[in-house]
Amino acid sequence: MAKMSGRYDAIHSGTPWFDQRGQPISAHGGGIIRVGDIYYLFGEAHRDMTNAFAGFNCYSSTDLVNWRFESVALPMQQSGPLGPETVGERPKVMRAPTTGDYVMFMHADGLDYRSQFVGYATAKVATGPYTFHGPLLFEGKPIKKWDMGTFQDKDGTGYILMHGGDIYRLAGDYRSVEAQVNKAMVHGFESPAMFRKGDTYYFLGSNLTGWERNDNYYFTAKSLDGPWIRKGFVAPKGSLTWNSQVTFVLPIKGERETVFMFMGDRWSYPRQASAATYVWQPLIVQGDRLSIPVYRDAWRIDVGAGKFRAGPVPGEIITSTDRRVSYTGSWQKSEIGGPIHQVALDRDASFSVTFTGTQASLYSVARPDGGYARVTLSDGHGVKLLSSTVDMYSKYPVSNVKFVTPRLPRGKYTFSASVVGEGWYWINKKGERSGSAGHAVSFDHLDVRK
Ligand code: GAL
Repeated sequence: MAKMSGRYDAIHSGTPWFDQRGQPISAHGGGIIRVGDIYYLFGEAHRDMTNAFAGFNCYSSTDLVNWRFESVALPMQQSGPLGPETVGERPKVMRAPTTGDYVMFMHADGLDYRSQFVGYATAKVATGPYTFHGPLLFEGKPIKKWDMGTFQDKDGTGYILMHGGDIYRLAGDYRSVEAQVNKAMVHGFESPAMFRKGDTYYFLGSNLTGWERNDNYYFTAKSLDGPWIRKGFVAPKGSLTWNSQVTFVLPIKGERETVFMFMGDRWSYPRQASAATYVWQPLIVQGDRLSIPVYRDAWRIDVGAGKFRAGPVPGEIITSTDRRVSYTGSWQKSEIGGPIHQVALDRDASFSVTFTGTQASLYSVARPDGGYARVTLSDGHGVKLLSSTVDMYSKYPVSNVKFVTPRLPRGKYTFSASVVGEGWYWINKKGERSGSAGHAVSFDHLDVRK
């Protein structure tokens, strides 16, 4: 297969992204730091079919759209915590003001999620390799909690955020905790993330539902020690945070304005490497309120100006009944979730569409019984250019973009998708199952840019 590198001109949510090697970007539970004009994205390197720690990846970008794989910043350790058959999640990097070192914080745990602590690792250069030092200590003891995040205030002071709402202030070298500045406010409040605008701090988190999405919510305060006032949901109620879980908020400071970018994960166990995606959306922040009122399939950032704008306008729409679409296996008409679409419930059913243009976006109806599709893009000679797995599950039915090709030389291409026969699911430590009720694949339409 000819591996094609991904070149995009907008931020796409809920679709696999490809790096310069043509490989899907694996950086979940991540965060971003800016060093000069370069943004570095750190996140969990996942493998499919296992939840075991596979390292933390580092990617770089100057436009927040096209990402270059840099390194496995922190590889799996030989033994012990973050060794084989362990869990490592939510890596966040900050630069310590007193030493200039890059310090990475993470949730280290056992595969059974019963031996958690906040760990840290350091490096002299942003891309690593990072040296793992074990638990971060507060009063000589590890912080034995799970979901964590970080926040660096204007004056360079670093903080560790914990699920529930604990906030710890770091020493100047970021290698230990000096003080606890806030105590947990609520049960749950996972995947903590924070940013500051003016004199207001915004503290975002999720409910405790494992890899399943929920309506994330937030608090605000004028001081990190509170009082924290519970505000409301980050996105419209019932959208389940547009089907994502927050991991980080990146302020993109331009010459005059700042865009606050919400970064969320759309998890997909057991295919977190190939089918989990990213939901990155501009946050609207006004006074002590924030929101993501609409879901943007694609949008653009002017990094220099600190402004965001709309993505490309829709092109030619090829619907599911168009004669350029061919189906094999059994497909049915369905209307759940809105648009009339075709759905296949049987393994090995597939469809393909031939189009002429420079980019194509696949829209499918994600459904409560949705599952994985194997998608392939081939050129006019039948040579495969890209392939990927996409997840068509959502707790509520909704038509969404599921796959976007990179920008292509104008020409004739074939896009195809087939039913894998599996959906995502997870069984938590209480033995409760979440995830899809089936493995359906659907086709709503293809949007082709001329
Ligand atoms: C989530 C948490 C993730 C991961 C997952 C495991 O609640 O935010 O980081 O730990 O549980 O089920």
